[in-house]
This record gives sequence, C-alpha cells and structure tokens, in this order.
Amino acid sequence: MKTLFWLIAAAFAAPALAQDDTARYLEESRKLSQSLVQKLGGELKKELSAGGPENAIKVCKSVAPAIASELSIQHGWQVRRVSLKTRNPMIGTPDAWEQKVLADFDRRAAAGEKPDNLEYSEIVAEPAGRYFRYMKALPVQPLCLNCHGTPETVSEGTRARLAADYPHDRATGYKEGQIRGAVTIKRPLF
Ligand code: HEC
Repeated sequence: MKTLFWLIAAAFAAPALAQDDTARYLEESRKLSQSLVQKLGGELKKELSAGGPENAIKVCKSVAPAIASELSIQHGWQVRRVSLKTRNPMIGTPDAWEQKVLADFDRRAAAGEKPDNLEYSEIVAEPAGRYFRYMKALPVQPLCLNCHGTPETVSEGTRARLAADYPHDRATGYKEGQIRGAVTIKRPLF
C-alpha cells in the first residue's frame, strides 16, 4: 500500500518538477540572451564612436559569432542570431521552427505588441531528441540603421564594404522599431 502511495505521488510530482525546470530554463535563457545583446551593443557602440560604421562592421562579423559561441561553450547551449532577411546566410539562416517564430513575432508586432517584449519558448521534440527552445526578438534601434537601414542612413563607404563582404546581403532597408531578427537558444533535455 505504501509503495502504491509513493508510486502515485511520484507520478503526480513528475510534471510539477518538469514545470519548475521549464521556468528555470526560461529564466536562464532570458539572462543569456540579455548578456549577448548587452555585450554586442557595448562593443558596437565603442567601435562606432571610435571609427564609424565601416570600422564597426568587424564587430558584427567576428565579435558577434565569437560572443555567441563563447556563451554556447560556457553554458552548453546553442546560442545564435537569426533573421528572415539575412546578411550572412551561412550563420544567420533560421531553421523551420525559428522561421515560424520569427514570422509570428512580425505578426504579434503588427497586432500591437511592443517589439522589445517579444519572446517565445517551447519544448520541441526533434528526431535527435527533446529540446528547450527560446527566442527573443531584436528590434531595430537607431544605432542599427548605420548598417541595416536605407541609403539615407547607411553611408556610401559602408554600403561598399558590405557589398564586398556580403554578396547575398538581404538585411538592409530596415526602419526603427521593425524586427531585425532574434537571439535563438537551444538546450538539449535528457
Ligand atoms: C557596423 C555595422 C552594423 C551595425 C551597427 C549593426 N549590424 Fe547587424 N550585422 C552587421 C553585419 C556585418 C552582419 C553579418 C555578421 C556575420 O557575418 O555573421 C550583421 C548581422 C546581424 C544579424 C544576424 C543575422 C544576419 O542577418 O546575418 C542580426 C540579427 C543583426 N545583425 C542585428 C542587428 C541589430 C539588432 C543591430 C542594432 C542593435 C545591428 N545588427 C547593428 C552589421 C551591423
């Protein structure tokens, strides 16, 4: 009888524990994406004021992926930046789940949600296993327009540099407040 009680108790306790875990993963994902955004924003601002946008391109080119992979190694989670209109399709192309979430962010923003607050998380079953997945929208700030804006905001020199480095660039023509892409985090669940 006692064993039966514990079996039933365990069956009820399991989902509660899973929910606790999910809340913790969400909290950790929020912190991780914040830390990526802050580090990257800090580096960008520093380089932009030191040598202008042409000089700051290298921050996005090498520092952003480096910060993302450093965070991935530190935490054992996959951390990337993705977009529906990539500049670098080799690194920034979203998978099917990410494309769906990004399209949803655009819809949610059009329906009046504040772009700054857009995030989404879900436990996803894939052929290789189960994952906790999280995405946080990256709204276009005035600073981003130096390199992702229209010809009025992107200097000729910057445009030339970008054209040389990114022949498949689709990440231009943005306006402040639009969603440029998202931080995406994927954590394997065992
Ligand atoms: C100095 C120029 C510059 C500025 C300013 C800049 N970016 Fe970028 N951005 C780039 C470059 C270059 C890449 C391609 C990086 C690579 O090679 O992976 C990029 C890539 C990205 C990507 C990855 C997906 C893709 O398109 O390949 C996102 C997301 C992104 N930028 C968002 C932003 C946001 C949001 C801001 C403002 C907070 C911003 N960027 C400001 C130059 C810039």
